[in-house]
Amino acid sequence: MERLMITGQVPLKGEVEVHGAKNSSLPLLAAAVLCHGQTVLHNCPDLSDVAAACEILSYLGCRVEREGRTVLIDTEGICRHSVPDSLMREMRSSIVFLGAIAARMGRAELCFPGGCELGPRPIDLHLSALRKLGLSIREEHGNLLCRTDGRMTGTSLSLSFPSVGATENILLAAATAQGRTILTNAAREPEIVDLAGFLNQCGARISGAGEGTIVIDGVETLHGCEHRVIPDRIVAATFLSCAACTGGDVLVKQVEPAHLAGVLPIFEEMGCHVRCYADAVHLKAPGRLRAVKDVRTMPYPGFPTDAQAPIMAAAAVAEGTSVFVENIFESRYKHAAELTRMGARIKLEGKVALVEGVPKLSGAEVFCTDLRGGAALVAAGLCAEGTTILREIHHIDRGYERIEEALRPLGAQILREDSTF
Ligand code: EPZ
Repeated sequence: MERLMITGQVPLKGEVEVHGAKNSSLPLLAAAVLCHGQTVLHNCPDLSDVAAACEILSYLGCRVEREGRTVLIDTEGICRHSVPDSLMREMRSSIVFLGAIAARMGRAELCFPGGCELGPRPIDLHLSALRKLGLSIREEHGNLLCRTDGRMTGTSLSLSFPSVGATENILLAAATAQGRTILTNAAREPEIVDLAGFLNQCGARISGAGEGTIVIDGVETLHGCEHRVIPDRIVAATFLSCAACTGGDVLVKQVEPAHLAGVLPIFEEMGCHVRCYADAVHLKAPGRLRAVKDVRTMPYPGFPTDAQAPIMAAAAVAEGTSVFVENIFESRYKHAAELTRMGARIKLEGKVALVEGVPKLSGAEVFCTDLRGGAALVAAGLCAEGTTILREIHHIDRGYERIEEALRPLGAQILREDSTF
């Protein structure tokens, strides 16, 4: 098994580039299923979750080729409508393929994605919306057996919660439905805007993405296109947190500062000097961070739940007590126990985490519990005294391209090692 060895207390200095967004690449790869002919995605990160999505496309019969961060998808050979259970279980967000496969093939078969480290991860909002669009869905022995007679039919939909995945599934199903779909209380994340932009480049007619109401006028078919994936705002937030907690001075490049509007004020409240450029953010940390009054995770444009763990690592060494409220997922504090092993003082009470800052953390052997929890442990290892051994780092590789290679040019003492146990 691989592990990361980190020797901390080196202030990060220099420049680092951010790769394309995992959470945009996945729905874009699903959207390619709708497109006849070839689609080319640039700035598509080389991550295990993206590889899993490409594996699904290949299983469906598509030709998928990667050259660096460019992925070509040719769907002319598409011949299957099911996603293997192993792939569904490996990556629960594969549910985003449902709408696209059903729309292209007239039928789709997937197993229930099941829960993950963050909690049960239900898909009720996806299923009820797709049913209203005319997809018949039978739930049998943990499988979703779906079919539609001809094209789905546009309708008015409203989400009880602005679910990112459900919004994506609705866009993918409605893009080639018959007639107009009006979706209210839609998710507003930048990844939704990126997906709608891609679909419109392919001939779809979608307006309002990024706002609460999205209008989709279905078209008969979509053609392929060439598209550049937006930068990964959570990777950017993670690198900024690594700079903040090590007293660093870092320029994070290839980002959209507007996508970080919910995050940057938190760093400023912690005492960092933050400056935005067209496609970069510069952060200069103070000698010691100040605690942050309260961090409440919210749907975009609020503070993103995915940045909660990486920023908690910085709060762990800030002066004073920070309050986190996790409003999006049921169980997204698993990293707290591992941070505590490094000397952090964190008290959990339901959705609330009280983080009493300590002067320094101590290196220890810790285990990644999930993707962003693992990223938090990298940040903690970088600011801890001594050496941190980080295990189960496959979680991190799901969303960060070789994180050690990104951080080492900033002075980070971080090494990936093979360990026999
Ligand atoms: C996407 O997950 C992201 N994943 C998550 O990032 C991110 O944390 C989340 O959006 C919120 O921003 C991808 O884009 C691949 P949701 P998704 O549907 O679509 C409940 C990461 O670290 N809900 O907005 O699954 C759900 O239980 C990952 O990169 C229902 O109740 O998020 C959760 O509590 C983690 N019923 C809340 O809504 C449903 O049908 C938010 O879920 C769907 C969701």
